[in-house]
Amino acid sequence: MSQAVHTIQLAGTDQSFFCAENDTLLRAALRSGIAFPYECNVGSCGNCKFELLEGVMASCWPEAPGLSDKDRARNRGLGCQSRPTGPLQIKLRTSDKYAPQFPPVRTSAKFIASRVITHDLSEFTFQTESPLPFLSGQYALIQMDSIAGPRAYSMSNVGMFSGETQAGNLIEFQVRRVPGGHGSAHLFDHLKPGAVVEIDGPYGMAYLRESVERDILCIAGGSGLAPMISIARGAFSSPRMAGRKLSFFYGARALQDVCGLDMLQTLPNWQDRGTYQAVVSGATEADTLLDGYLRGFAHDAVAQTFGERLQQMEIYFAGPALMGQSLLKTLIDLKVPMDQVHFDQFY
Ligand SMILES: Cc1cc2nc3c(=O)[nH]c(=O)nc-3n(C[C@H](O)[C@H](O)[C@H](O)COP(=O)(O)OP(=O)(O)OC[C@H]3O[C@@H](n4cnc5c(N)ncnc54)[C@H](O)[C@@H]3O)c2cc1C
Ligand code: FES
Repeated sequence: MSQAVHTIQLAGTDQSFFCAENDTLLRAALRSGIAFPYECNVGSCGNCKFELLEGVMASCWPEAPGLSDKDRARNRGLGCQSRPTGPLQIKLRTSDKYAPQFPPVRTSAKFIASRVITHDLSEFTFQTESPLPFLSGQYALIQMDSIAGPRAYSMSNVGMFSGETQAGNLIEFQVRRVPGGHGSAHLFDHLKPGAVVEIDGPYGMAYLRESVERDILCIAGGSGLAPMISIARGAFSSPRMAGRKLSFFYGARALQDVCGLDMLQTLPNWQDRGTYQAVVSGATEADTLLDGYLRGFAHDAVAQTFGERLQQMEIYFAGPALMGQSLLKTLIDLKVPMDQVHFDQFY
């Protein structure tokens, strides 16, 4: 059934965009090329806040943690959770860095197959009805039947390169089963090959910078494997990046969680250009299987391995919030310029 579409005017500017009643302000703005600031797209980070000046809107998730009671009292909303019910005027400070390289596409997708990676991490392959162009490192939203709200998952396959115009229809995600989690349980336990979901993407700012001439450091923790594998695949497939070296660190809690190396070893010239280091935080002195692995945390391991050489690297990371915070502190302490550091926080 077709949905009513409304005009959203950005106060104090000549910018406006159309938003359907079943879309969100953030996603519709990005589809129109408007640089609406955001990060998670799932109501948690609060980066997509705006102020409603005129009109009436609805919220997909009124209790979303990204909005405080004070925000609500001040007529603020989250772009990623707000739907129009009529024309709106909103106050928003756009920022060029959020201008989408590829406007997000909303398409149905068929679940093809899954593949086990570790005891709690699997890869899920979908075929989208419409091509979905993305850059390596970006994520998409999956809306599953019977699950309230979409879930954000990063693509693990290689994205588009500069100059490429033809996007593919196959899309892969690597998802960790979260204890008690509704969306991940649905993927692991209920989705059967042939089932149809809605996929909306691409989103995210932590994509591969092809034109930067620095060596690359990828740091993945836990469920952050997918975007880092996509970045590595992109770096080893892009003709513009042929001279670049790549170091890949994987932070795991236990030995059974370590993964990723088999995927990297299939990349052309991995032996010459790539190195892989697993870092296990829960390992004890008694663990005898730690051959080649480091004990401890990924942020300490990269600081000890590279020290101030991190200042000359292009750094991408993904994983749990705690890892991200520790890593950022380490990089700031080592005076790494922040425009060389790329991440989308997982929530
Ligand atoms: C940018 C980004 C990229 C990510 N990439 C990956 C990845 O590659 N692999 C991976 O395993 N995980 C990834 N995640 C985490 C993933 O999106 C889920 O949070 C995780 O799988 C847990 O989901 P769940 O449904 O199992 O748990 P639940 O606890 O059921 O749900 C948690 C998530 O759902 C949202 N949510 C909960 N209730 C509602 C509601 N009523 N309406 C709307 N939203 C709701 C929350 O914001 C939260 O994101 C990513 C997260 C982000 C933000
Ligand atoms: S809360 Fe909307 S982008 Fe994070």
